[in-house]
Amino acid sequence: MKTAVYRRATFNAAHRLYNPKWDNVTNDKIFGLCNNPNYHGHNYILIVKLIGDIDPETGYVIDLKILKDLIKEEVIEPFDHNNLNLDVPEFKNLNPTAENIAKVIYEKLRSRLETKYDIQIRLYETENNFVEYPG
Ligand code: NI
Repeated sequence: MKTAVYRRATFNAAHRLYNPKWDNVTNDKIFGLCNNPNYHGHNYILIVKLIGDIDPETGYVIDLKILKDLIKEEVIEPFDHNNLNLDVPEFKNLNPTAENIAKVIYEKLRSRLETKYDIQIRLYETENNFVEYPG
């Protein structure tokens, strides 16, 4: 049987949701306050789920220190206290919705982890709104 282990991390970041192909009235209609041209922030909570077999030698699925350091390097350092639209290259041409942030985080971590592991990203944008990728 596979076992899931989880690592939680938090970061604070600013963003603005808009589609550059639409006029401001349409963007306001679709994105409301999230289209504020001066940006706004969220206290994001990230939960990385990693699924694998328990290693009989260590008793671990993965040493969580490895996952902690990877999240720090790939997510916290580039995202925390930054403006996602302006400071993070992945969102230059990608609307930084919770959905897209979760997808970007998945791809960054996936590329750094052995293929024997499956991962899933859960990202809370607010206490009540969260997404999972893959869903
Ligand atoms: Ni927002």
